[in-house]
Amino acid sequence: MILILLGFYVACSFMLALFGIPSFFLMIFVAKFLFVYIGEVMSKDQRPPVAGPVFNQLVHFRKLFDYQASLAQKYITYRMILPSHSEIYTADPVNVEYILKTNFTNYGKGEYHCDIMKDLFGDGIFAVDGEKWRHQRKLASYEFSTKVLRDFSTSVFQDNAAKLVLKVSMVAAAKQMMDLQDMLMKSTLDSIFKVGFGVDLNSLSGSDVFGNQFIKAFDDSNVIIKRFLNLGLEAALKHNIKVIDSFIFELIRCKREQMKNKELDRGKEDILSRFLLESKKDPKKMNDQYLRDIILSFLIAGKDTSADTLTWFFYMLCKHPLVQEKVVLEVREATKAQINISADEFAKKITEKALDNMQYLHAALTETLRLYPAVPMDGKHSEEDDILPDGFKVKKGDGMCYMAYAMGRMRCIWGEDAGEFRPERWLENGVFQPESPFKFTAFQAGPRICLGKEFAYRQMKILAAVLVNFFKFKLVDERKEARYRTMFTLHMDQGLHLYAFPRL
Ligand code: HEM
Repeated sequence: MILILLGFYVACSFMLALFGIPSFFLMIFVAKFLFVYIGEVMSKDQRPPVAGPVFNQLVHFRKLFDYQASLAQKYITYRMILPSHSEIYTADPVNVEYILKTNFTNYGKGEYHCDIMKDLFGDGIFAVDGEKWRHQRKLASYEFSTKVLRDFSTSVFQDNAAKLVLKVSMVAAAKQMMDLQDMLMKSTLDSIFKVGFGVDLNSLSGSDVFGNQFIKAFDDSNVIIKRFLNLGLEAALKHNIKVIDSFIFELIRCKREQMKNKELDRGKEDILSRFLLESKKDPKKMNDQYLRDIILSFLIAGKDTSADTLTWFFYMLCKHPLVQEKVVLEVREATKAQINISADEFAKKITEKALDNMQYLHAALTETLRLYPAVPMDGKHSEEDDILPDGFKVKKGDGMCYMAYAMGRMRCIWGEDAGEFRPERWLENGVFQPESPFKFTAFQAGPRICLGKEFAYRQMKILAAVLVNFFKFKLVDERKEARYRTMFTLHMDQGLHLYAFPRL
């Protein structure tokens, strides 16, 4: 030990003399980290196995979720070491149930995660725990279950699906290829904007310059996953947040004016108007900043997740043409629509009842989410020392991630064909059978399960049904394997390039 210390002292003096103070601090950091790392690996405590230093994730950053999946196949629950604490990763449904439900209060977002998200989300539902979360959850659950919001959002989805058909028709008629991902992102942004604010953004048609700025600001903010992983500096978020904020505050101001002039009543359908009416009861708490945070969270939640899922869904349909044909058959049977009707007319035929009858489509979307969950991993933070159901110890301050992407590929959960895309696994006698949310974790589970799940399925089913009814899709390059870009959401790298052929 004395020799090691002496060696370290000599090395420090040498580095200090040779390279100066920065190298010296770097060396101190490396030494501290090695000390912690070796201590943790050698520890006899019953802690999850160490799969490496957290920096390994930087090495595998481009295929981060596959790297995690390969570690999960080996360990199911494992640990990565940081100088200050451990990050625990699990793909074990028993542990997932424990952290998301049984001991929910111990595994909040934590100060660290909240701080990272604060820039963008403020005090929005994603970034808060405790009383602030409970208040928004209660309010939003109520609003999301109202018939007014449901009917309004369905008609918005129908209108935007028909607009998307027109856009695809133009590209198909010119026999050009298209980036369907880009179109879906714009279409879902238009929908969530209309449902969120009652405003037409028209980003799909590209007629709104602001719409394009807004999308860019949104997309760039997604890069903050790097901060989450402690892997580097965030991109210049400030400018993007300014763009987003100025628009939202202006909208709130206009709506407040309308409210003063009694133009806004309880029948108003968009989410902002409904929250504004609610804010009358407690104007101090629900001030403009709070409303901005709530609404922005919904926008972010609703925009990328549905569009990313639909992108992977169409990719899967192209890779599995038989599934594509089965979906078309079911959609036509469920809508009982005649051929040669317009996209608008067809979209209106997708009623609640028709949606209920699209069980195979529901299964195919769920199968897509199993393999390509829009939120591929999700991090919590342990408030206190704890013991997981598998016996592994958790220390206060540890990070705790469940890995939806890895879980969707675990043979011990889905069987030997876990890697195969097979919608039939979700069906019994043609009827969709849900799986435990602690195994199928794409929407999270427990008290914080996704609030927009039903909303998202309705949007995705309407868009998918309308598109497959009018077009047959083929990949531009059949042999190319799509890859994701490592972000909060599972975005396809470089887009989804397809040809669309009109269906007769
Ligand atoms: C395929 C589509 C979607 C998927 C896969 C999905 C998935 C998720 C996941 C994994 C979470 C947990 C995030 C976390 O706590 O860190 C979440 C939360 C949430 N989602 Fe979704 N989501 C989808 C669509 C939507 C839509 C369309 C909306 C609303 C318009 C929405 C609203 C929310 C809200 C408000 C929360 C926060 C719930 C809470 O913390 O209590 N989601 N979603």
